[in-house]
Amino acid sequence: MRTLIALLAIFFCSTTQAETMFAHADAKAGKALLEKHCISCHASSFGGDGSGIYTREDHKVKSAKGLVTQVRNCNTMLGLKWFDEDELNVAAYLNQTYYQFK
Ligand code: HEC
Repeated sequence: MRTLIALLAIFFCSTTQAETMFAHADAKAGKALLEKHCISCHASSFGGDGSGIYTREDHKVKSAKGLVTQVRNCNTMLGLKWFDEDELNVAAYLNQTYYQFK
């Protein structure tokens, strides 16, 4: 039993949260979704391509998990009816390109 717990600990601790969460995500598909549904509004309030919203000094999202939650909230708020997979793809793209949580 103790060996099993040790093995599990090694398994879970050696991969980071973001790596685990986004292991099967398709960031390219996420990029396309983000560009279609999300960016114009960010761009109208933050200028340019809207990416300033992710990189501003006091940005809201502080972890990979928080990023997925934020994407989920936006999806729900906008009534886009994305699947979990779509949310993860978008979060993976945002993480890869801007947030870079480990
Ligand atoms: C109608 C306008 C609008 C649309 C559409 C929109 N957003 Fe946002 N988004 C905002 C605003 C405004 C904020 C900043 C909220 C704040 O500062 O409290 C924000 C914040 C965010 C953040 C957090 C940035 C940070 O501070 O770290 C993420 C991530 C995000 N949006 C993702 C998305 C995604 C994904 C979509 C598409 C599903 C989307 N947004 C669609 C207006 C929008």
